[in-house]
Amino acid sequence: MGGPGRGPAPGAHGSTARDLVRPVDEDMFRLGADEAIGQGRREAVLLRRSSREFADEPVDPEALRRAVGVALTAPAPHHSTPFRFVRLADPARRTALLDALRERWRADLAADGRPAGEIERRLARGDLLRRAPELVLPFLTGEGTQDYPDAARTAAERDMFTVAGGAAVQSLLVALAAEGLASCWVGSTIFAADVVRAELGLAPGWQPLGAVAVGLPVEPLRPRAAAGPGDGFLVW
Ligand SMILES: Cc1cc2nc3c(=O)[nH]c(=O)nc-3n(C[C@H](O)[C@H](O)[C@H](O)COP(=O)(O)O)c2cc1C
Repeated sequence: MGGPGRGPAPGAHGSTARDLVRPVDEDMFRLGADEAIGQGRREAVLLRRSSREFADEPVDPEALRRAVGVALTAPAPHHSTPFRFVRLADPARRTALLDALRERWRADLAADGRPAGEIERRLARGDLLRRAPELVLPFLTGEGTQDYPDAARTAAERDMFTVAGGAAVQSLLVALAAEGLASCWVGSTIFAADVVRAELGLAPGWQPLGAVAVGLPVEPLRPRAAAGPGDGFLVW
């Protein structure tokens, strides 16, 4: 308490020194450079999450290009770089591709015997890829794969490249998050590879790995807590 002759009592003007001090988790300058770099490294992967709504603002194409550059450093078998990322910038091409994917999905659901009303409801929900400000399509090109005379090793070789493709897409998502960009990986192109190849005029060896919707986040991205090892980490 401030007494006579010791200046105004704290709060006498409705504020205290605390009001002048930024809360520690909002203070960008509280860390030394090394600590800030360490925190950035630890949190980069935890920034990524699936975002299905985006701010109504354009994405900087340079940020996309940088994120793809990071993704292309992903590990791959036989010292290959068997990935390509296509930024589908032309709205007419995007619409044509998404229309063709929708028609394939409609045909698949009809062949499954789904009632017409349910089919239309499901198709109406699938417009995340139409709403996203940017669309990036990841592919495996087939480059670097080795031939085997038997089916088992042929399948294993394909699996090996498919998991490498997954690593590259995750690298893209993390790099996008580090650029402050929100994303959602959508699997639909995997189910209609022939449609995608026909629409985009791709070689038969190109294997779609889904589609990545990208945009500015509605709220700034914040890292989430890592999962405890739980059942996901076994020590034998
Ligand atoms: C290969 C793959 C395909 C996915 N397909 C879809 C999809 O079609 N639609 C969608 O909204 N989310 C899709 N997701 C995102 C998952 O739903 C999401 O990763 C999961 O719910 C966990 O949430 P999180 O990414 O925020 O951790 C897909 C994820 C992967 C890895």
